[in-house]
Amino acid sequence: MFLEAGLLTRRSVRQFEKDKKISKEAIEDILKIAMYAPSGCNRQPWEFVVVDEKKIQDKIMKIHPYCSFLQDASLAIVVCWDKNQELGEGFGVVDSSAATENLLLACHGRGLGACWCAIYPYEDRMKEFQQLLKLPANIVPNALVVVGYPTKTPPQPKDRFKPEKIHYNNW
Ligand SMILES: Cc1cc2nc3c(=O)[nH]c(=O)nc-3n(C[C@H](O)[C@H](O)[C@H](O)COP(=O)(O)O)c2cc1C
Repeated sequence: MFLEAGLLTRRSVRQFEKDKKISKEAIEDILKIAMYAPSGCNRQPWEFVVVDEKKIQDKIMKIHPYCSFLQDASLAIVVCWDKNQELGEGFGVVDSSAATENLLLACHGRGLGACWCAIYPYEDRMKEFQQLLKLPANIVPNALVVVGYPTKTPPQPKDRFKPEKIHYNNW
């Protein structure tokens, strides 16, 4: 159980080998890991839309202002939650965010690069993704995760450990 190295070296990846395919097996592998995230009362309210069609990817780049690097990526995964499955209002976004982080780490562990691009909490963006992906009314899009094979290893972050952010017992 040596997860630390992966946790400390994961970075957002925005440069990809153009259009390199990811096998269905590998896609299901990373989604399996996403589905092992914790969730309120283990309700697992997440749903995933894998977008590997160029035509839909092009439309995504038109409605999302900060994901132009999807151009070269292999695919995008839209992580959603099901309002009918979440434990209560507010849990769906938290649970599907936990799944999104698992997904990023699963990619990193397999030599894939990924970047989380916000859909939630931008209401106009959420509506546009709802329409584009033909999501039923109870399915809410949270995050667009762009996935591909990195062209280079991103630089490692400066030390993010800030002891002043830790509070013991009270503020
Ligand atoms: C909720 C959320 C929304 C984000 N939205 C975008 C986005 O729209 N476009 C983008 O390029 N990066 C986006 N990011 C990635 C962040 O910019 C990135 O995680 C941050 O700069 C830290 O860098 P690192 O992921 O390499 O550690 C988002 C990250 C999170 C968690």
